[in-house]
Amino acid sequence: MESYRRIRLARGAGKSPLIAETVFLFQKTNRLQSAYAPLNRATGGAVAAAMRRAEFSAETGVISTVHSLKSSSCVFMVGLGAESRFDANTLRTATAKLTYAAFAARVRSLRLNPMPAVGRTLTADDTASAIADGLAIAGFSFNRFKSITRPATGDAVPIDLQIYTAPDLRRMMERGLKIGEALTTARTLSATPPNVAHPRYIATESRRLAKRVGLRCTILGQSSMKRLGMEGIRSVGRAGSTPPSLICLDWPGHPPNRNGPILLVGKAVTFDTGGYSLKTGGSMRGMKYDKCGGMAVIGAMEAIARLKVRPRVIGLIPCAENMIDTTAYRVDDILTLCNGVTVEITNTDAEGRLILADALAYGTKRYQPQAVIDLATLTGGVVVALGSFCAGMFCNNPTLRRRLETAATATGERLWPLPLWQDHRQLMVGTHSDLVNSAAVREAQPIQGAAFLSHFVGETAPIAMPTLPWAHLDIAGVASRSTDSPLYPKGPTGFGVRLLAHLIVNW
Ligand code: BES
Ligand code: MN
Ligand code: ZN
Repeated sequence: MESYRRIRLARGAGKSPLIAETVFLFQKTNRLQSAYAPLNRATGGAVAAAMRRAEFSAETGVISTVHSLKSSSCVFMVGLGAESRFDANTLRTATAKLTYAAFAARVRSLRLNPMPAVGRTLTADDTASAIADGLAIAGFSFNRFKSITRPATGDAVPIDLQIYTAPDLRRMMERGLKIGEALTTARTLSATPPNVAHPRYIATESRRLAKRVGLRCTILGQSSMKRLGMEGIRSVGRAGSTPPSLICLDWPGHPPNRNGPILLVGKAVTFDTGGYSLKTGGSMRGMKYDKCGGMAVIGAMEAIARLKVRPRVIGLIPCAENMIDTTAYRVDDILTLCNGVTVEITNTDAEGRLILADALAYGTKRYQPQAVIDLATLTGGVVVALGSFCAGMFCNNPTLRRRLETAATATGERLWPLPLWQDHRQLMVGTHSDLVNSAAVREAQPIQGAAFLSHFVGETAPIAMPTLPWAHLDIAGVASRSTDSPLYPKGPTGFGVRLLAHLIVNW
């Protein structure tokens, strides 16, 4: 069974009377824009009549469905809120709401022509991207493990959706929907439970994806990682149900080039029990989402290949399952990571930084990148500090930070800066080792994570703060949601895929 819905851009003008139509409206517009007049006539005036009703609302994301005796399909009226507050994010959310309504109504084809309404504020390209985002974000469903089909809700019955749209939106919409497919890849992998999505599964799926979209894929397994001295990844994954690995995805650039690549690194802990520093109470719930950083990098690499971007990009995904058995790594162990730095384990639940450290040290040495970005569900502390509204961003380079902030604004995947100073690095110094993986104090936990990682980035490592442009994004608060929001259904968000795709397309 298909585990997700496909949203496709239809060819042709779409003359079928079964296509559901849409009208986009700002609040406090009493009259329908003239561009919608033919549609209003086709419904025998039902659209304009709906607007005159007392209960009619054009608040952001309010969808009114209009049926008429004259036409066989329906019209969705999409509220965009106040025109003065309108932006791409509003359109993204309104389109998501429209998508939920369309799926609920079993609509199979939908015509979207928002330009007369939104064209004054957004360009055609920004409009098309926001719409594609809204469709992809809301269109996600994960039914692989649903065995009971309930006709009332449509569970386990994915419906594909054909989209008709205006010519000026088509090109960007096409691009947006490609990114949307990559987003779906990341979310599908993220949602897949840990008994299925173990490290070997993630490696196999990466290889299959790479083949499908034209990426080079190399998997460093036990023997390669042993040879390279990656005791971080190997230790964290030692008790896992399948062996750990370092997945390497390589986009050679278009045309292929030998410039310093952009390096993306994503934490993929397929399940985080905490290890011997076992997670207690309810805190183990949802730890299948501890692979979301890595899945975002896989999704971003898919988007990069599908869009055939110019720069060379390397994606590294250290992948391990943090479990317990007699071979599992312990508290008090001292490990030597792949750049020779030794780490005393003070907490086996601070495992993400160990696998990332090996990947960062290996990646920055091997590929000589021009910039590095890592994504990880690294700390609960970042959720305490920032909530689920943005990722915490650590960045040592103003240009890279500006690029990331531009991508964040454009995609609505928000980032907020946190500091990293020499003082924070001092917190991580060990007594009998170079470093500890978690400091004796509980303070500044997200920064401790970043401070630890800073010892593994580029040629200045481990002595000095990295000079290589580097950003660490702690996505623990944003990678998944436990409730529906106007934009996202509950579950994995794929945070980072759209952000990274935008960043690299505009590099
Ligand atoms: N995967 C967790 C972080 C996490 C917590 C992600 C909650 C999503 C939601 C990470 O491996 C972890 O356990 N971090 C510890 C770090 C501590 C031991 C220094 C934490 O945040 O408590
Ligand atoms: Mn942990
Ligand atoms: Zn973790």
